Amino acid sequence: MKSPIRVAVTGAAGQIGYSLIPRIASGDVFGKDQPVILQMLEVPVDKAQQALKGVAMELEDCAFPLVHGMVLTADPAIAFKDANWCLLVGSKPRGPGMERADLLKDNGKIFVGQGRTIDEVAADDCRVAVVGNPCNTNCMIAAANAKRLKPERFTAMTRLDQNRAASQLANKAGVLVSDVSDILIYGNHSPTMYPDFFNAKIKGKAVTDVITDRKWLEETFIPTVGKRGAAIIEARGASSATSAANALIDHVRALMTPGATLHSVAVRSDGSYGFSEGVWASVPVRTVAPGTYEVVKGFTLNDFAKDKIAKTNAELVSERDTVKDMLG
Ligand code: NAD
Ligand code: LMR
Repeated sequence: MKSPIRVAVTGAAGQIGYSLIPRIASGDVFGKDQPVILQMLEVPVDKAQQALKGVAMELEDCAFPLVHGMVLTADPAIAFKDANWCLLVGSKPRGPGMERADLLKDNGKIFVGQGRTIDEVAADDCRVAVVGNPCNTNCMIAAANAKRLKPERFTAMTRLDQNRAASQLANKAGVLVSDVSDILIYGNHSPTMYPDFFNAKIKGKAVTDVITDRKWLEETFIPTVGKRGAAIIEARGASSATSAANALIDHVRALMTPGATLHSVAVRSDGSYGFSEGVWASVPVRTVAPGTYEVVKGFTLNDFAKDKIAKTNAELVSERDTVKDMLG
């Protein structure tokens, strides 16, 4: 039996936490032979701490053999202590009529303190995945407040957008989602994101050869993916939770599984694909060793794509300007 790894989850009693934690506990993320110690953080408010106890009681009642310990706390220094992975979910979700960037004022400051604390107490091999919105810029804030852990350790989640894009293409083409490959997301987790259908494939053929309705690809597909979060909020009265938890599982598992399959991850931009250096932009990534990735730079982007990327980059730069006082 392997030694247990420590996985910190913030916002553990929230909606996403409720879908996410049982799947970590059952081995869906780190493998069926990898024990975990769950270090669950919630705000220091009685109702939240009580709900967290309830989450832990249910986990006990699942009798997951891989759970080798649980820590329930309101103290980030305890939650992140020696953590190998920190999954930063805890923050406010948006409501109807809001954009994710409207959350920056309330949520940004959470990531200042958490970035610092993770840097102080987490394990040397710690990796951080940010889900709390606006996740690209929150991730930048957390990374900027860490001095020991390198920026490459901090990633933000655009895998939900990739999964949404794959499903939309599969539905339109009347194929299985597993027939869709290389659909990759560029930029911000916001309506400006660019799901690059030009380089995507269906059963190995270019998407544009299978779905010949270019107007649908440009004018329906892209906004449907970009605004799917708002559509879920409209339908459910609450933001996506099961699909967000599932995407985070895909995000972490893909980063821990070396292989040829490409996936979308928001990482610190090195200037490739036209993004400004230092913003956290979603790009195609290949995992080269568990927890270590490289940005795949070979995709050709046409003028349509370059224009979309310029717009999503401008938004990332403007978010960075808004939070400049939080950047360490
Ligand atoms: P939720 O309100 O159900 O749960 C959030 C939990 O976080 C709450 O229990 C709250 O008490 C806790 N929390 C707040 N501040 C905290 C802090 N400083 N430390 C620890 N815990 C804290 O919300 P949710 O639906 O689970 O969504 C969480 C976040 O994830 C939101 O910001 C949402 O917009 C975002 N989200 C991102 C994606 C994505 O694709 N990147 C997808 C879905 C949701
Ligand atoms: C999503 O994409 O579902 C989340 O980011 C939640 C939201 O605010 O849209």
